[in-house]
Amino acid sequence: MHKGFIFDLDGVIVDTAKFHYLAWRKLANNLGFDITEDQNEQLKGISRLRSLEIILEWGKVNLSQDQFMEQMALKNDNYLSYISSMTKKDLLPGVSNVIDYLSENNIPFALGSASKNARIILEKTGLIQKFNAVVDGNDVSKAKPNPEVFLIAASKIKIEPENCVVFEDSVAGIQAANKAEMISVGIGEKDILNEADFIFSDFSEIKIDFINQLIKSQI
Ligand code: BG6
Ligand code: MG
Repeated sequence: MHKGFIFDLDGVIVDTAKFHYLAWRKLANNLGFDITEDQNEQLKGISRLRSLEIILEWGKVNLSQDQFMEQMALKNDNYLSYISSMTKKDLLPGVSNVIDYLSENNIPFALGSASKNARIILEKTGLIQKFNAVVDGNDVSKAKPNPEVFLIAASKIKIEPENCVVFEDSVAGIQAANKAEMISVGIGEKDILNEADFIFSDFSEIKIDFINQLIKSQI
């Protein structure tokens, strides 16, 4: 039985979750309110459009359609300026190790991200060629926790969903992986990601032995 791996991007491969938070916070502050880190947890893995709707509900702010689109564009410009100088040095610790191992052993792996900026980041960090498939916010109609993004990724790497392992840092992403009947590996805090099948605080905690056990279906 062949296994495949699906990586979320923001907060798993690169530490961009903090930049999304900074950019959303700036937007909220400009509209006269603030968002907390706890609120930000609920935005992880959520599409740009849905995130803005949620944030405006929190701030009880009503915007016209034009103003809404303008704020989305402003947020993204801001976010893009944060990631503009990103290089492979910005990969989170331990991620390259696992990606290189999968690559060298011809184990298929895909990206499954809600972000429409995913390809830019994979290019900047030198990873784009390594992935067997990239599925991002441009390819899906239903956002996490809907499993669509992971199901498309699984079909692109031609691995049955139940043989896929998903690395995720968001609650919505773990729920999406679970709904897809994939093995979910949470990257982050145990209290937050408690629905995951396995949880690690970061990739440097994930040993190749664990990856091999997953590949051989020993766990
Ligand atoms: C997810 C992030 O990966 O992508 C969210 O966790 C973000 O915070 C979403 O809103 C959409 O990203 P982008 O880059 O298309 O605005
Ligand atoms: Mg993420």
